[in-house]
Amino acid sequence: MKKYVVGNWKMNLTRADARELVSALHANGAHSTEQVSVVICPPFTVLSALQELTGHSIALGAQNCHTAEKGAYTGEISAQMLTDVGCAYVIVGHSERRRDQHEDDALIGRKAHRALASGLRPIICVGESLEERQQGITHSVITAQLNGIIDAASEEVAASSIIAYEPVWAIGTGLAATSEQAQEVHRDIRLHLQSRGISTTVPILYGGSVTSANASSLFDCPDIDGALVGGASLNAADFAAIVATAQKAWA
Ligand code: PGA
Repeated sequence: MKKYVVGNWKMNLTRADARELVSALHANGAHSTEQVSVVICPPFTVLSALQELTGHSIALGAQNCHTAEKGAYTGEISAQMLTDVGCAYVIVGHSERRRDQHEDDALIGRKAHRALASGLRPIICVGESLEERQQGITHSVITAQLNGIIDAASEEVAASSIIAYEPVWAIGTGLAATSEQAQEVHRDIRLHLQSRGISTTVPILYGGSVTSANASSLFDCPDIDGALVGGASLNAADFAAIVATAQKAWA
């Protein structure tokens, strides 16, 4: 199974800064290999400026798309517009959008469906809050999120997607899940996908305070197939070090 290191730039960088970061990533040797694909997900406004600087070595993804093909949706971006500017991937259901835009699992599933129909591979995010973990309901929360998304998207779409497990309490906090905590949930996710007849070869990425310091222990886990990296993806040396760790883990 192919492994992934995906950078989620969130709402950061102008075109000039973005070009500089991609050039620095190339200079630091952050590039895809046969085993590990490197993907960056910049904001919409810089995608076309990066089209010529990306491609095989670093693939482009977006951070969101709309459920509809096109039409009267002021302020929205369609999946087809993303393929038009060179995207091959799109993140759907990030917890920041669940929180700020009130996205629910059915909507996220419909976004994944549209994305795949338009030629994008969805990166579907799930994750529990701190409160849910403390209540001991992580498993049922993740399972319910997956079911809501798969019911809306279809098993076929889920089978062609990438799943990202991002515990909400680990995002941007510097408090990454331990490799044991992550492995346990990743295993659950894989088994749950299997129980719904979905291939066990769907990549499951971990996200939440991944750094070059903790990447290696995460990548050693049997059910972790890569990382979705936020903060550290904005620093070329850090992101390149995470990519190098992945290439070493899956050489
Ligand atoms: P972080 O973000 O690496 O800054 O914790 C991860 C994400 O939100 O995808």
